[in-house]
Amino acid sequence: MKKIIAFLFVLLVTSSCTSSNNDSVNVYSPSKNIEVNFQLLDEGIPAYLVKFNGISVIDTSKLGFDFKEFSAIKKNFKIVDVQENSFNETWQMPWGETKDVVNNYNEIIVTLQNSDIEISTFKIHFKVYDDGIGFRYEFPHQNNIDSIIILDENTEFNLTENHTCWWIPGDWDIYEHLYNKTSFTEIDALAKAKHVNLAQTYIPENAVNTPVTMRTSDGIHLSFHEANLTDYPGMTLKIDKDKLLMSSELVGSDRLGFKAKLKFPFNTPWRTIQIANKAAELIDSKLIVNLNEPNKLGDISWFKPKKYMGIWWEMHLGKSQWSYSNNGKPHGLHGATTENAKAFIDFASENGFGGVLVEGWNTGWEKWVGFEDREGVFDFVTPYPDYNLEEVVRYAKEKGVEIIMHHETSAAPRTYEQQLDTAFALMKRLGIHSVKTGYVGKIIPKGEYHHGHWMVKHYRKVLETAAKYQVAVNAHEPIKDTGIRRTYPNAISREGMRGQEFNAWSSDGGNPPNHLPTVAFTRMLAGPFDFTPGVFNIKLEPYKKDNQVNTTLAQQLALYVVIYSPIQMACDLIENYKDQPAFQFIKDVGVDWDKSITLNGEVGEFVTIARKEKNNDNWFVGSITSEVARDIEIDFGFLDAKLKYNATIYQDGKNAHWNDNPTDIEIKNMEIDKNSKINFHLVAGGGFAISLVPIK
Ligand code: NOJ
Ligand code: CA
Repeated sequence: MKKIIAFLFVLLVTSSCTSSNNDSVNVYSPSKNIEVNFQLLDEGIPAYLVKFNGISVIDTSKLGFDFKEFSAIKKNFKIVDVQENSFNETWQMPWGETKDVVNNYNEIIVTLQNSDIEISTFKIHFKVYDDGIGFRYEFPHQNNIDSIIILDENTEFNLTENHTCWWIPGDWDIYEHLYNKTSFTEIDALAKAKHVNLAQTYIPENAVNTPVTMRTSDGIHLSFHEANLTDYPGMTLKIDKDKLLMSSELVGSDRLGFKAKLKFPFNTPWRTIQIANKAAELIDSKLIVNLNEPNKLGDISWFKPKKYMGIWWEMHLGKSQWSYSNNGKPHGLHGATTENAKAFIDFASENGFGGVLVEGWNTGWEKWVGFEDREGVFDFVTPYPDYNLEEVVRYAKEKGVEIIMHHETSAAPRTYEQQLDTAFALMKRLGIHSVKTGYVGKIIPKGEYHHGHWMVKHYRKVLETAAKYQVAVNAHEPIKDTGIRRTYPNAISREGMRGQEFNAWSSDGGNPPNHLPTVAFTRMLAGPFDFTPGVFNIKLEPYKKDNQVNTTLAQQLALYVVIYSPIQMACDLIENYKDQPAFQFIKDVGVDWDKSITLNGEVGEFVTIARKEKNNDNWFVGSITSEVARDIEIDFGFLDAKLKYNATIYQDGKNAHWNDNPTDIEIKNMEIDKNSKINFHLVAGGGFAISLVPIK
């Protein structure tokens, strides 16, 4: 990793960022826009409140725990110590939306004590930034108690009014739901409980998953999530409509009958609230990564951010299949053949793509879905007879392309763990540095869920083992992103939302045009996601008569800028890119950035992002809209004053429309500089993409 030029200081602060008395302590963000008050209520109940620019955004919210064998953490506490610090550093991302990240906060660590109960001491740690807050529980060593079984964490988020919310259900098994926009009191997760398009789903109560984003009547935006989910269950938020209250509901294990078992000492993940005046500011917030620990892997230059193609979309379209045979006989539709892989490698190499993903290369797919016993089905090292792995890798190397490995575990993590070392050792020998993993189906053993403590540990084990073999991981059906890429920068991307694949086969009309303008302000706040944009054959003909992509072609291009991921797929079939002038944008667009600026946006409506490529002076701009057509003025004031740029603009044609005429696109060139202000028209479901290259 590049040398970190960090400006770092920690100092004991004076009363400028905190104020306290016996039962109450305040801490302010560096610019004092956010104020957190921690206090003990009557009966010594721990609680906190949050204000933003003097306006209350979180009302009195209690904190506590229920344990299996010990008294609950609930009341009769006293504050025995308060530590106060300020912190300011700038750290560098090895890859990311931006090179330098400012990590500047004030913190308090409050030690609480109740000598009448077994777990007599714990700490609550608040970090208050200008873009939001994080707090966590810290449990030190306990006398004579080694470990503890958590029945639930009772962290409250007491809302101040009936906000507008963008939410997905608190599903313990999958995040691949469409976002709903309702008022808080209209949240009804259980109404979403039966969903034919999901490979697994379990929604036990009216709760939402995080990030969940809200807008107050004053136009303040709040997003609730968690950071550094390491050794703990995922958190959903239970909805109490009458009290306008959310409270933590941890994902459990029916197999074990509790939520988590932890050894002392331990810390919970950070509970986070991003707070902004404007929706656009949420996207530029670095709160989630800042609340994670620094890079533990050191130099990871073996992973290079890249655009990739691959044997993937054709299976989702039904043009080919992952499996090789049917009832023991080759069916002739297998996608991952040596020949097909070489065709993708040729095309990728000719067009400057760094990677080719090959799914369906290994044995086992005959028993992929619909089988109860999926243990031992996939082995991650044995190719089908028509796929010569060594030859494909050799050929790719010769053409300057890296193969991306694929491990579909079919949600049998025990089988995967047994074979991890063998599977990664094969990759290391072949010089393959990234893997896409998958967990389609109900977790085996029964009673475990994708987002429970047992699986959180599994996903981390995969990441840590992968790192030993210089392998980067793009997990599908993953645990949610909580900024762990800062600590393990081999966590390059993940799914964890409803991806492009739904457009190919879901029976509910696919992703509506407001999907990605919502995802940008919800799921994307958690971190990079592998959406796989770039469909040019929008109507999916002749393969899928009843499905289509619900955007214009120009919007598909804009997604390469709007969506952040250090790996971006151009997912369509080779034949759909040939002789397409718009393909030039995908070839040109950067994938690793010096700087990113969210220029404008409203949740679920539209968003425009500008990004400056790393190691050169090129800028790219992407803008997308929902089903509502609109005009957006771009002020190019972010450009370098010393340069003039040749801009190539890819925008919706005059008659374009996501449904009626999605491929109508206009491509033009013009000179643009820092003083330019240009109005762009986005049609329904449309967008625009711009590449800006300095004129020499
Ligand atoms: C689901 C993943 O999201 C998708 O990308 C992949 O093709 C299939 N599983 C097969 O692993
Ligand atoms: Ca998926």
